[in-house]
Amino acid sequence: MMTIDETLATAREWRRAAKHRMISSIELSSARAGLVESPDLDDFEVRMLDLVSLRVHHRDGMYHGDGTHDLGAGISALRCIRECLRVARADLRYGSILDFPSGHGRVMRFMRAAWPEACLTAGEIDGVAVAFCIREFDALGLHSAGPVGDLRPGARYDLIWCGSLLTHVDEASAFEFLRFFRDHLADGGLCLFTTHGAAAVERLRAGTEDYGLSEEGVARVIDGYDDGGYGYADYPKSKSYGISAAGHPKMAEIAGSIDGWDECHFIADGWDRSQDVHAWQAG
Ligand SMILES: C[S@@+](CC[C@H](N)C(=O)[O-])C[C@H]1O[C@@H](n2cnc3c(N)ncnc32)[C@H](O)[C@@H]1O
Repeated sequence: MMTIDETLATAREWRRAAKHRMISSIELSSARAGLVESPDLDDFEVRMLDLVSLRVHHRDGMYHGDGTHDLGAGISALRCIRECLRVARADLRYGSILDFPSGHGRVMRFMRAAWPEACLTAGEIDGVAVAFCIREFDALGLHSAGPVGDLRPGARYDLIWCGSLLTHVDEASAFEFLRFFRDHLADGGLCLFTTHGAAAVERLRAGTEDYGLSEEGVARVIDGYDDGGYGYADYPKSKSYGISAAGHPKMAEIAGSIDGWDECHFIADGWDRSQDVHAWQAG
């Protein structure tokens, strides 16, 4: 039986969720109406915008009330994935796709619309986000609570999309994630991972972006990038989670030190005009 305090907390959470659902639905509907008029989108992308679910979880930390940016990031990911599939001559219609980290499905909502028959898996450290993706996008869940090397998904994937995770970890962790991805690719499968690359470093140098870092953190990332090709600094008050930046050659060196896959495509600053997209295909 719940105490009065727990009952009140549940009621407050429910109210917050209901209010957020209403507001985000209005914001995203209006963003969608604007985006479908954009000459930048092709027919497929416009069709996907019509199909996509507009449900946003009230604890989705990636959603800041800007529906156009949220939907735009999803469309941009879809565009990168389709470009890499074309280059790799791969097809995902009945494929299996791992979105790691899925967050609350900013990209997964578009995967579900684009590949309705594919088997989607949401990999995340945040169990609430995994549960939301299972419910909203008919995904399987892969809750990543410990070291990534301990995860046993019991499956191999035709596509692994890793959007904005390596952007937050140091070089050793980036290597561990990439090794996990390679180990869980099906034959011929594609892994797309994003990083802050040369253009992001220029934004740090110019001071037009700090990605939430302190001044010292920004300097550390730039120094690491200049000295060894991979820069990293923790967020203020955070440990082992922050901002990284690495050039294309450095990421090719790290991924290339893992056997059994080759780079098949690279799109500079290609995702959401802010992150490099690297595509590696299992041999
Ligand atoms: C910047 S968000 C990107 C989320 C999603 N890809 C998107 O674009 O909306 C980074 C996500 O990584 C998740 N994360 C952090 N460490 C993780 C880990 N070790 N395993 C799985 N997910 C992790 C966080 O919970 C967060 O949702």
